[in-house]
Amino acid sequence: MKSAKIVSLGKYLPSKVLTNFDLEKIVNTSDEWITTRTGIKERRIVEKGVASSDLAREASKIALKRAGIKARDVELIIVATITPDTVFPSTSCHLQNHLNAKKSCCFDISAACAGFVYGLICAWQFLKTGFYKNALVVGSEVLSCITDWEDRATCVLFGDGAGAAVLVPSNKKEGFLSADLGGDGSLGDLLILPGGGSRIPASFDTVKSKMHFIKMKGNELFRLAVRIMVKTAQKSLRKVGLTTKDINLFVPHQANLRIIKAVAKRLGLSEKEVYVNIERYANMSSASTSIALCEAYEEKRMKRGDIVVLDAFGGGLVWGSCVIKWS
Ligand code: UT7
Repeated sequence: MKSAKIVSLGKYLPSKVLTNFDLEKIVNTSDEWITTRTGIKERRIVEKGVASSDLAREASKIALKRAGIKARDVELIIVATITPDTVFPSTSCHLQNHLNAKKSCCFDISAACAGFVYGLICAWQFLKTGFYKNALVVGSEVLSCITDWEDRATCVLFGDGAGAAVLVPSNKKEGFLSADLGGDGSLGDLLILPGGGSRIPASFDTVKSKMHFIKMKGNELFRLAVRIMVKTAQKSLRKVGLTTKDINLFVPHQANLRIIKAVAKRLGLSEKEVYVNIERYANMSSASTSIALCEAYEEKRMKRGDIVVLDAFGGGLVWGSCVIKWS
């Protein structure tokens, strides 16, 4: 048994910026409220007609170029998204087509904000057994299309973007060392898009009653997010005999700066050990951790041998963390 490592990353963010001041003109909110309650200052929003696979294509092209791997040689494509281009075909199939990556197996992962971490762990399993020789894992979201722009409690929180990682097999001493994935379906109602599935199929009524938008119980989620993100990170580290003191860089899901700070404090991490970009992009679900990890890599925040921990939590509920020895 081998392991797997990330050899490159790429990201893509739509150019259109929506600031808190822009939102003041749409709903009854203020830059002051959004900044103090969430840490968000602005977010990126796609132009009409742009889908998740379009963002994924741009991020993937960069990641593949940096890895020196041709699209035609990619063996596995996993896209984590809750805003697929279409219910089916999967967004990974759309992406495969955009990239002309004809040799690849493709599937999507629906694990909301933890989707990118779930995708990485999944790819790691395929690579360490020798089943595939490389993998492209993408977190891509167009959350603006499932956002209720009349609901101030949610519309200030989300943004669009995509991040991609290329993985290859490695020896057991580097790359992915351990992971912890979990879920609790009994708490699904805390963060849900109720309409359009087989339970409540799309109809005139579901559109009228706004059932195709994100519904969230923010307060309850906040407390759970802090508790669960701390626990899963500790669990992943414990599996390989490490502690939070061994962390060189912590890359958490970017849902709320107050959640990130509370988690970091409980893990005993200093500000410089934690990667934060929520002020620029808001919460992009599965794209948040993929873009944060990509930016940390572009800014050379991790060096060979560093212990990097990814940690995410979201609707489902689902959560996941992993420990990577950077190489
Ligand atoms: O991505 C994965 C999972 N997501 C999360 O983990 C999100 C977790 N939750 C949160 O980040 C926070 O709970 C929120 C940012 C969503 C909300 O922050 P909060 O400090 O929990 O605020 P709140 O919901 O308790 O609302 C406080 C007040 C309310 O007014 P009253 O009832 O106290 O008069 C809201 O109506 O703030 C009001 N409010 C707003 N005011 C101005 C809610 N949204 C806004 C807004 N602008 N955009």
